[in-house]
Amino acid sequence: MTLIPHVPQSEIQQRRKALLSACKANSVIIIPAASEVTRSRDTEYLFRQDSYFWYLTEFNEPDAFLVMSNAANREKNLAMFVRPKDKLAEIWDGRRLGETSAVDRFELDIAYSIDQMKEKLPEWLNEHEHLYFSLGQNERADSLVHAALSACKNSPKNAMTPPSSIFDVNEIIDAMRLIKSENELEVMQQAANISAEAHKRAMRFAQAGKFEYQLEAEILHEFAMNGARAPAYGSIVGSGNNACILHYTENSDALSENDLVLIDAGCELSGYAADITRTFPVSGRFSQAQKALYQIVLDAQLASLDVLKPGATLGEAMQAAVSTICKGLIKLGILKGELDEVIESEKWKSFFMHGIGHYLGLDVHDVGVYKKGGEDIPLGVGTVITIEPGIYISEDEDVDEQYKGIGIRIEDNIVIVENGYKNLTKNAPKTIEEIELLMSN
Ligand code: GLY
Ligand code: MN
Ligand code: MN
Repeated sequence: MTLIPHVPQSEIQQRRKALLSACKANSVIIIPAASEVTRSRDTEYLFRQDSYFWYLTEFNEPDAFLVMSNAANREKNLAMFVRPKDKLAEIWDGRRLGETSAVDRFELDIAYSIDQMKEKLPEWLNEHEHLYFSLGQNERADSLVHAALSACKNSPKNAMTPPSSIFDVNEIIDAMRLIKSENELEVMQQAANISAEAHKRAMRFAQAGKFEYQLEAEILHEFAMNGARAPAYGSIVGSGNNACILHYTENSDALSENDLVLIDAGCELSGYAADITRTFPVSGRFSQAQKALYQIVLDAQLASLDVLKPGATLGEAMQAAVSTICKGLIKLGILKGELDEVIESEKWKSFFMHGIGHYLGLDVHDVGVYKKGGEDIPLGVGTVITIEPGIYISEDEDVDEQYKGIGIRIEDNIVIVENGYKNLTKNAPKTIEEIELLMSN
């Protein structure tokens, strides 16, 4: 087992500084943590920290608030509200860092108990011209901030002056999160490596009669044994026709000898996601029809990758994939007509109905703007994206019998670098030969 990489606190501090200086002068910033979510009665889902809060703290406790000020001549500029130490609560529900240790760990000017929010938050708003906060994202935070603004506004004899404008802090953080640092890329590479091994493990394990959820278990086992407790999203294991359901997570069917199985799974490591899809034959050998369709998707993926470099756009990558898929499907007689007409008429959307990819980072569908003024935003160095074309021909399609019930997607995680791109997930086999070789051993 390798050491689990994470972003060092020094870089987290840099992020906070960068955020503070990107805000207008005399601003206060409020970033809430996530809260626990009930699964049923007295049990909760595995806690997942809010990505923005994590980005600025790497603190994994629920209900906390980060509060920062860039006002000049303030004694205290960095505070956190955290759950207070509580012997009984800690015996039942787990350890709490508490105020004193929070000050040390995050080099805060002050830490409060979350029980002091009502009293202290108005004081932090007071005499700041601007508030940077993301309204509409976290109901509990919305109501606490609303109450604090109201307390500030209605203070006796106007003793307090609340901010006169509110800006969405996420806009600034999104632009920061879009470009990954060396430390972030190191974590994402490791998440990609673990996830690639998990896909290989599932390929080796697959055989007729095994259940989709058992392949999922193999994937999760590989994640955990390499330091990643949780997947970055619900793993998709779809065999046969199930692969044509884009977000299939039932994972309940048994594998059949002659089917393909599509697995879309990636681990979360130190908060960062991997997002890999591979499609392979249950038997270990592709049929002729499966091979023909698989090769089209692979060629489309390679064509997409080929356009990637600084300044290129996801739209260009999409065009390359669409053109390759249309050519391939015309050749097999699945789409009919001239290439230009088929592309123009969007007939291909019956078989490739999603986009070419998305930003990847702390969120699997990561933050960042895709378009400005209707135009695609050019990809910058340090941006991580997925490239994931697919062909899905469900059993109800009016095509030659041999092509029915086949869903194929190939998805890699790509970082844009100075001279082009780097594939973080190249360890996961994806050519027909590589897959058949791995599965024959
Ligand atoms: N795993 C979700 C996606 O590929 O976008
Ligand atoms: Mn994806
Ligand atoms: Mn995916």
